[in-house]
Amino acid sequence: MAEVIIVSDAQAAGELVADEIARLISVKPDAVLGLATGSTPVPVYRALTSRLDGIDISGVRGFALDEYVGLDASHPESYRTVIAREVIEPLGLNPDNVHVPRGELVDMEHAGVDFEAKIAEAGGVDIQLLGIGTDGHIGFNEQGSSMASRTRIKALSPQTRYDNSRFFGSLEHVPTHAITQGLGTILEARHLVLLAFGFGKSVAVAAAVEGPVSAMTPASVIQLHPHVTVIVDDEAASRLQLADYYRAAYAGKLPWQGL
Ligand code: F6R
Repeated sequence: MAEVIIVSDAQAAGELVADEIARLISVKPDAVLGLATGSTPVPVYRALTSRLDGIDISGVRGFALDEYVGLDASHPESYRTVIAREVIEPLGLNPDNVHVPRGELVDMEHAGVDFEAKIAEAGGVDIQLLGIGTDGHIGFNEQGSSMASRTRIKALSPQTRYDNSRFFGSLEHVPTHAITQGLGTILEARHLVLLAFGFGKSVAVAAAVEGPVSAMTPASVIQLHPHVTVIVDDEAASRLQLADYYRAAYAGKLPWQGL
């Protein structure tokens, strides 16, 4: 069962996760971080900047979950640019150590395999940050994705394009496709940390954590992983049937202990 931690707000979640990442880097200076984009992980990256003073991060490596297809890499919303702006620059990571799947429309048929090879070469991901779509996607594994899928190109669902239109000004500018780590790829990370904030995520969170493992809720695949931490605010937790149990289980124990 996933460890579920219900916190007051996104900032509290960001601090918990930043503590864990800083601890990981202090014991493993070449730690491999699985980086999510979108609005959810931003508080983690913000909190992490203040925790890295005096810690050597020159060996830390990172892999993004996904990238839009067909968007110029220099576009302000390409995940290559977002990762540079929100992660590499503020944290001071070595850009050569941080990889984003290639979304350019050249040599696309090799992009997934190349990315998987880089993850394998790095020895796998130590801690994978995940947001969740309102339709239950993780990465851009939309409903119906194979639980064994690897990094590949997926069409974005109308819901995902609508949700992400806030980053692009209007729906028509949202790319139609993305290249994303597969569910099988994500499951190979050693620790999954899924974050969700706000009522808008409450249906997806309940389905992912307590619903059946189903291709209709790609995030439910986390139930198959031996080390998962789900951190949600009260609103995102509001449809969890076992919310009281999670609160009681977490009260007074050390984080990351597992249930
Ligand atoms: C982004 C990603 C997506 C987002 C999800 C939630 O790299 O993989 O699964 O995590 O769409 O997006 P936000 O955080 O913007 O609500």
